[in-house]
Amino acid sequence: MFSHKLIEKNIGLLIVLTFLVVSVGGLVQIVPLFFQKSTTQAVPDLKPYDPLQLAGRDIYIREGCVGCHSQMVRPFRAETERYGHFSVAGEFVYDRPFLWGSKRTGPDLHRVGGRYSDQWHYVHLMNPRDVVPESNMPAYPWLADTPVDASDIQKKMTVLKDWAGHPYTDEEIQGAPAMLEGKTEMDAIIAYLQALGTFAPKAQ
Ligand code: HEC
Repeated sequence: MFSHKLIEKNIGLLIVLTFLVVSVGGLVQIVPLFFQKSTTQAVPDLKPYDPLQLAGRDIYIREGCVGCHSQMVRPFRAETERYGHFSVAGEFVYDRPFLWGSKRTGPDLHRVGGRYSDQWHYVHLMNPRDVVPESNMPAYPWLADTPVDASDIQKKMTVLKDWAGHPYTDEEIQGAPAMLEGKTEMDAIIAYLQALGTFAPKAQ
């Protein structure tokens, strides 16, 4: 009954059947990922961002750093030689939303944690040209004299804990505002940058 001729002549049927075939193909590739350890479980010892890093992450989002920087080292020789171990899914469990990005006007930042000193980041963010003369990255001097907004940090952590299962303890949430006291947005974003990618799997 279902001859090939019938399918080829009936555009509606062709569309429906094409859709079915593509759906099955897609499901076969996607569904197993929900059940694989390597894509569903955190890498060993992974910790959620502490309050200062979390505040820094929000500043990173606000300032649009993701528009020029990816956070996703791909498993190619050229990338692993330059940045370090390629990124794995289990490192992003506490990244909501993830900031993988897709534009690399600047270098990938997923392995930048620990690469430079805090002082280097400070000088670089105040004016990138002072450390990298040919840089076209914008300067962010206002971060240094803007205090971190601590008013919503407990709320943020509570939501991440209750809704997304980030393992913050009550003490950590209670102590969060004290941790942000006297800190500038510059301190926060540097703390965040220094935390990036530090749970990388050990070298192959
Ligand atoms: C207009 C694009 C652009 C934006 C926006 C931007 N950057 Fe950059 N960034 C660059 C470029 C280009 C470089 C490479 C030259 C340099 O080091 O300054 C760079 C370098 C860096 C480096 C050094 C990376 C390394 O491995 O050497 C860090 C850290 C960094 N940027 C952080 C940030 C942060 C944090 C923000 C947001 C506050 C930001 N960038 C926004 C373009 C950008």
